[in-house]
Amino acid sequence: MNYARIVGTGGYLPEKVVSNADLEQMIDTTAEWIVERTGVEERRVAAPGETTCDLAERAARRALDAAGVGPDAIDLIVLGTTTPDHVFPSVATQLQHRLGCHGGPAFDVQAVCTGFVYALDIAYRFIRTGASRKALVVGADTFTRIIDWTDRGTCILFGDGAGAVVLEAAQEPGIIDSRLGADGRYKELLWVPAGVSSGYDKTRENAAFVEMRGSEVFKVAVTTLKDIAEQILAANRMRVADVNWVIPHQANRRILAATAKRLGLPEERMVDCVRTHGNTSAASVPLALDVAVRDGRIQRGDTVLLEGFGGGFTWGATLLKY
Ligand code: COA
Repeated sequence: MNYARIVGTGGYLPEKVVSNADLEQMIDTTAEWIVERTGVEERRVAAPGETTCDLAERAARRALDAAGVGPDAIDLIVLGTTTPDHVFPSVATQLQHRLGCHGGPAFDVQAVCTGFVYALDIAYRFIRTGASRKALVVGADTFTRIIDWTDRGTCILFGDGAGAVVLEAAQEPGIIDSRLGADGRYKELLWVPAGVSSGYDKTRENAAFVEMRGSEVFKVAVTTLKDIAEQILAANRMRVADVNWVIPHQANRRILAATAKRLGLPEERMVDCVRTHGNTSAASVPLALDVAVRDGRIQRGDTVLLEGFGGGFTWGATLLKY
């Protein structure tokens, strides 16, 4: 069986910055409160008409450039998103069309903030079995489109963005292990109650917004991020000390700090983009990976642990040699 390794990363953030000072003008909050409780100082918001596929295309082209791979070599696209441009077709098929790499399978994965880690796991297994040689794996969301900007418990946290990697068949890892999980019992802690099949509240304008019980989500997130790190490391006879970099889902600075503490991981070895990205849902992990690769923190041969956590709840961990 082949192994799979990441040969290029890319990220894209929309231009418009929304600062905490901007939010002070919109809701009953203070910049200090937001920074203290979340670590977020600013987030990016897609321009009117700018879609998830637009962000995904920019990130994908950067990943392809970094990998030195032409789009025509891509034989699989797996894309994590909760905010597709259309009900159908998938963002992945539209991305495939824009890149001009027709014919191979292309599909979206819906695992909310774990979307990229799910997508990476699937692409990894395609490559392991020989069904794909070069895959494009993307996490992209315009999550702010499903945020109620009058709800101070949610709008402070989220932003838009996209991240991508090119994953290639290799003789050695690459990805060492990948594990996913979910528990649908937690649905109402973090969800959008409206939907295509269950219907929309026609008395409210555009009423498909995220509802969240923040402090309850917080507790499950910390416990899960700690547990999945320990499980994947134990299964591979490794310890936290063997990992150079941990990239958890960028939900909230306090979630990252609490997870690092429980794992006994020095916070300097955790990649943290919360301050400038906020929570970009499926884009959060590949965006943080791209930042740390491009600024030189993550070097070839480093051992990296990616962790996702999101609505559902869903979760997943990828252990890899970069
Ligand atoms: N500004 C000022 N006050 C706010 C506020 C804001 N933006 N948002 C909430 N508050 C208030 C609440 O109304 C509450 O007031 P009350 O005590 O008078 O009722 C108080 O702050 C405490 O609320 P609580 O929800 O307990 O705060 P918290 O410390 O848990 O912080 C979150 C709220 C949302 C920042 C935090 O729970 C969180 O980040 N949770 C995880 C969410 C997450 O990561 N979701 C995505 C996972 S993929």
